[in-house]
Amino acid sequence: MRALALLVAFLLCPAAFANEPATDRDTGLVVAPGWELVRANCGACHSYRLVTAQRGDAAFWTDAIRWMQRTQNLWQMPPEVETSLIAYLAGNYNETDWGRRPPLSPSLMPETP
Ligand code: HEC
Repeated sequence: MRALALLVAFLLCPAAFANEPATDRDTGLVVAPGWELVRANCGACHSYRLVTAQRGDAAFWTDAIRWMQRTQNLWQMPPEVETSLIAYLAGNYNETDWGRRPPLSPSLMPETP
């Protein structure tokens, strides 16, 4: 009976149906092809949160990596590793899936005095 109640509670729970991608418990990274490369290369100096809180296309992620290589001692990665890692980031952390509403159109903004 208790098991049945739990099952019903689970089925009624909105989270059970939410379309959220599965994330790794330790890093918070979306589990999708290439995620282990990010786990291996992107957590040594800062939290993975700094990665998962950003959104951008491949150019954005490439720029971020180049900047860290130039100024923060990020190591060079083999080209195939870098390509897969950037594809993962641009695929799972793209600005198109930014969780916020887009900015208001200027015509909807209050008048400035
Ligand atoms: C060798 C150390 C190091 C490694 C490894 C590293 N980073 Fe960073 N990263 C930094 C530092 C230092 C900062 C600046 C932190 C701050 O501003 O507090 C930073 C900042 C960032 C930012 C924020 C940039 C911004 O505009 O605010 C992102 C995104 C980022 N890193 C992504 C990554 C990714 C993706 C990887 C893996 C490819 C990675 N980092 C690996 C050192 C590193």
